[in-house]
Amino acid sequence: MKLGVNIDHVATLRQARGTDYPDPVEAAALCVKGGADGLTIHLREDRRHIQDADLFALRAKAQLPLNLEMANEPGIIEIALRAMPDEVCLVPERREEVTTEGGLDAVGQLEALRPTVARLKDAGIVVSLFIEPDPRQLDAAVALGAPVVELHTGTYCNAAGAAQAKELERLAEAARYGHQRGLRINAGHGLNTVNLTPFLKAVPHLGTLNIGHSIVARAVMVGMERAVREIKELMA
Ligand code: PXP
Repeated sequence: MKLGVNIDHVATLRQARGTDYPDPVEAAALCVKGGADGLTIHLREDRRHIQDADLFALRAKAQLPLNLEMANEPGIIEIALRAMPDEVCLVPERREEVTTEGGLDAVGQLEALRPTVARLKDAGIVVSLFIEPDPRQLDAAVALGAPVVELHTGTYCNAAGAAQAKELERLAEAARYGHQRGLRINAGHGLNTVNLTPFLKAVPHLGTLNIGHSIVARAVMVGMERAVREIKELMA
């Protein structure tokens, strides 16, 4: 099993002030040191965190495979084909959302997705679809020729008690079904140090887990003491 670290929110901190730090490329180098197997970024249409320049800089400088999350939008597809990430994960995107809500409706958007999946694959990019753990969506991924799916774990992570147990079972069944149909099974969204272990115990056949917000949030906390000390030392 591999860990893809989503570094979007390093860029969120930078964009909050319009500074040139913190730099996602620098964060990527630290992810390498921490044992990350890959990097994930989402180039949103509103460019609220990752910018086009980040994508190209990471492609040029980062020492890890790059997974680009993106909407099925013509302008973004062109950028992806220029940047040539190792992997593209197609996600739904709405401007009003705080983060990606729900999976891609691969069943409903089969015809709209077909040319995009084909173009990206022809270019040599591994294509993944971010979907709900639903067998119909897995069938659609197979029909589209996408070799990889990323199961949306957000509902599991936001649920509690019996609802959480039920969602875990849904994820496990989807992973088994997808594996049986020859798909590579990734997963992500909302995973953290509390909900990860039960997830890993219940869900088989996992390839890459993409985890971002909880890692960046934790990084702020474990780095705070040192950051304050550095300023105090300068003042002294
Ligand atoms: N996978 C996908 C497809 C996502 O859209 C996101 C959020 O950008 C993640 C994984 C990572 O989710 P989180 O930041 O909650 O760990």
